[in-house]
Parts: sequence; structure tokens; C-alpha cells
Amino acid sequence: MADKWADKPVAHQAADTPLTSGGAASTAAPPAFATRDPNTPEFWDERFERRFTPWDQQGVPPAFTEFASGLTPCPVLIPGCGSAYEAAWLAQQGWPVTAIDFSAAAVQAARAHLAGLVGVETVHLHQADFFTFEPTPPPRWIYERAFLCALPPSRRGDYVRRMAELAAPGCLLAGLFFLGQSGKKGPPFAIVEAELHDLLSPYFECIDERAVSGSLAVFAGAERWLTWRRLS
Ligand SMILES: C[S@@+](CC[C@H](N)C(=O)[O-])C[C@H]1O[C@@H](n2cnc3c(N)ncnc32)[C@H](O)[C@@H]1O
Repeated sequence: MADKWADKPVAHQAADTPLTSGGAASTAAPPAFATRDPNTPEFWDERFERRFTPWDQQGVPPAFTEFASGLTPCPVLIPGCGSAYEAAWLAQQGWPVTAIDFSAAAVQAARAHLAGLVGVETVHLHQADFFTFEPTPPPRWIYERAFLCALPPSRRGDYVRRMAELAAPGCLLAGLFFLGQSGKKGPPFAIVEAELHDLLSPYFECIDERAVSGSLAVFAGAERWLTWRRLS
């Protein structure tokens, strides 16, 4: 499978300066990766281990803090949490958070981030596969950012079915969705908005949609904040 997060520079990177997970530019050439299947933890392990994480925001998106600040704290699930910036932020505001990632290297990055912070003891961090993990307590908000677009399009039906299973009536699925023409190359795999609505609407109603600021160049102009509510 072709892979934009493999050995090609992304839009915000100079060809010889891949972003590292610390946000600094490296002078090393973009790595040539051995793994090509984003369905596997090894694909993501390799990118985290080689510090090639061009999706990494190095912090929390403004749309996320705006949304969370308007809600009463409730159990949140963050699938594909990466470095867990949002989990840390929520915990520091008193939210109960479960953050999962199936990549051992991603979980290690999350642990390293959390280790430097105070007030994050309530983050429940697990190395786990979204498609089989059973969160406790059940979430009232499932946060999406750069997770759906990390999955091959062939897994979109599975994503929606699992979201529907995990979300009790009234539970929110809200976050940043990467919208656009679906290409064969990825990740990230953009999704046409009409397809997203067709997939989710049997289970969720879209109750809010808004433009966002502060997107990384790789997502710029194509990220939107969508809030879906699980139907009864
Ligand atoms: C593009 S990264 C985004 C990370 C994070 N959400 C962020 O915004 O920085 C996608 C993440 O999803 C994780 N992932 C992919 N498939 C997964 C699955 N089935 N279960 C759990 N995590 C998964 C990967 O390991 C990777 O850390």
C-alpha cells in the first residue's frame, strides 16, 4: 500500500527535514520504512521509533479546548491517542480519560509525555486495539483526531460499527475529521464528507460542524470539527 507517512516528505516539511516527534526539524533524510500496512501496530511503532510523526500537533488543537471547555466533565475515550496531549489536558481539568493506542511505541511516547506533567494521574492509558477494547467506564464522549484517517478505507465500516457499539445513546463522537477526496495513497486517508455522513447517520446524528484553525499543514483546509450524537 502506498503511504504518505512512509518515506515521502509531507507538505510542511522540507524534503530533507522530517519532523521529529519533538517538533524539531532533523537534518536526516526522510526514512525508508520497512512496514507498509497501517492496520498493524508495527507500522506505527516504526514511525514513532524513528521519530517520523508529521501528524503530531505537539499540543492540543484549539477546537478541542473550545469544545471541552463547554462541557461538564464525563468519561472520555481517546482511540489512537498517540502522544496523548488531549488526554493529559482533560485529566488536568478533572476529566476521567481512557486513552488507547495499539502501538507500543505510541504508548511509550504517551507515557513519556504524561510523566513530565502533574495532575494527569487519572489518565487510564492502555496499549489496546480499538476494535476489541472494552472501556470502563463507558464513554460519554469519544474523541476523534487523526484516527479515522489513519485507517485504510476498507476499515471504515468496522470503525463505524465499533463506534456505534461503544457509544450508548446520547454519547458524543466529536473531534477533528480529515475531509476530502479519498485517495488510494495514505495514511492520512481523507474521507468525502458525504460518505462519512452515509456511514455514520444510521447510528449518529450530526449536531454541529465547524471550521477550525491551527491545523498542521498536512491537514490544513481539510480538517473540520464535527459533533455526532449517538441515536437511541
Ligand atoms: C496518525 S496517528 C494519530 C495519533 C493521535 N490521535 C494524534 O492526533 O496525534 C494514528 C494513531 O492511531 C493508532 N492506531 C491505529 N490503528 C489503531 C487501532 N486499531 N487501535 C488502536 N490504535 C490504533 C496508531 O498507532 C497511531 O498512534
